[in-house]
Amino acid sequence: MKLPQLKIDGLTAQLPIIQGGMAVRISTGALAGAVAKTGAIGIIGASGMAFDELRREIEIARELAAGGIVGINIMFAAREFVGIVQTAIKAKIDLIMTGAGFSRDIFKMGQDGNTPIVSIVSTARLAETAQKLGAAAIVVEGKEAGGHLGTDQSVWKIFPEVKKAVGLPVIAAGGIINGAELVRALKAGADGVQMATRFVLAEECAAPPEYKKRYQEARKEDVVIISSPVGMPGRAIKTAFVEKLLANKEPRPIGCDFCLKNCSLKYCIFQALINSQKGDIDHGIVFSGEYVWKIKDRTVKPAAQIVADVLKEAEEASVL
Ligand SMILES: Cc1cc2nc3c(=O)[nH]c(=O)nc-3n(C[C@H](O)[C@H](O)[C@H](O)COP(=O)(O)O)c2cc1C
Repeated sequence: MKLPQLKIDGLTAQLPIIQGGMAVRISTGALAGAVAKTGAIGIIGASGMAFDELRREIEIARELAAGGIVGINIMFAAREFVGIVQTAIKAKIDLIMTGAGFSRDIFKMGQDGNTPIVSIVSTARLAETAQKLGAAAIVVEGKEAGGHLGTDQSVWKIFPEVKKAVGLPVIAAGGIINGAELVRALKAGADGVQMATRFVLAEECAAPPEYKKRYQEARKEDVVIISSPVGMPGRAIKTAFVEKLLANKEPRPIGCDFCLKNCSLKYCIFQALINSQKGDIDHGIVFSGEYVWKIKDRTVKPAAQIVADVLKEAEEASVL
């Protein structure tokens, strides 16, 4: 099967693969740039970044991307949502992906800045609304995804509903961890896929070795659903901190800089994500997709090699 290009507005990616944005500081400029250089689309997880930091990460990604497509991902739930979007548009980012809540205003900002907005949704209804408001493409994310989840339904169930509802490029996300799943998505009518979990094991991914080790050792039973103070469930690998969450014994936040528009204040998810990003896994949350344990080769390797592996798997799957 010859893989199609992925067209979003005026942008053409040579490969129908988007590396999903991962906060906090898991997909930074180094990973996004390395992925973009392969012809796929690289995404910086911008939630939790300061504006200056984001500008720097965009520059890093641009230099590495050699003309490839680089975007950012920002959670609507983040208090600095508007500032991050404006910063990225000013820095001439190629596209902006947004999920974890729904913003109407972002489409106007995108139009004014000539920047395509891609909405991450989990229902056909929200996909239709995004299309009406001016989205350039839709990512349909199923319950198999890592991080915050907008649904308990499989991507394979929601995808056809969304595809029928809109006339935009539709990208499937959640549990697509190898080339066989990529081929399955394309055969189901997807214009592309978004993959995140697979890219955590890239050399260029900013997660520390202790974090990547959790990915390498994760078994099916280690991947669990937690409740996030954002008001959504999330998918993560069990850590000592996550065990506390599951037992309702999570530590109360010590301070708060009100990083979220709405927060239950049950615990500080920002601090827990920062802790794991800094290697303090026992006090942290390690987000992951449902099928991390299905990744056959869990060695850490360059992002370009991961993309090459996925393409090889896709080729093998399409001749079966
Ligand atoms: C470590 C990690 C962090 C994530 N952070 C974000 C995020 O900040 N914003 C977002 O929209 N999605 C986030 N996601 C979801 C991914 O972008 C992606 O859509 C999803 O994980 C795809 O499923 P897969 O991981 O099975 O490939 C995250 C996923 C992971 C694994």
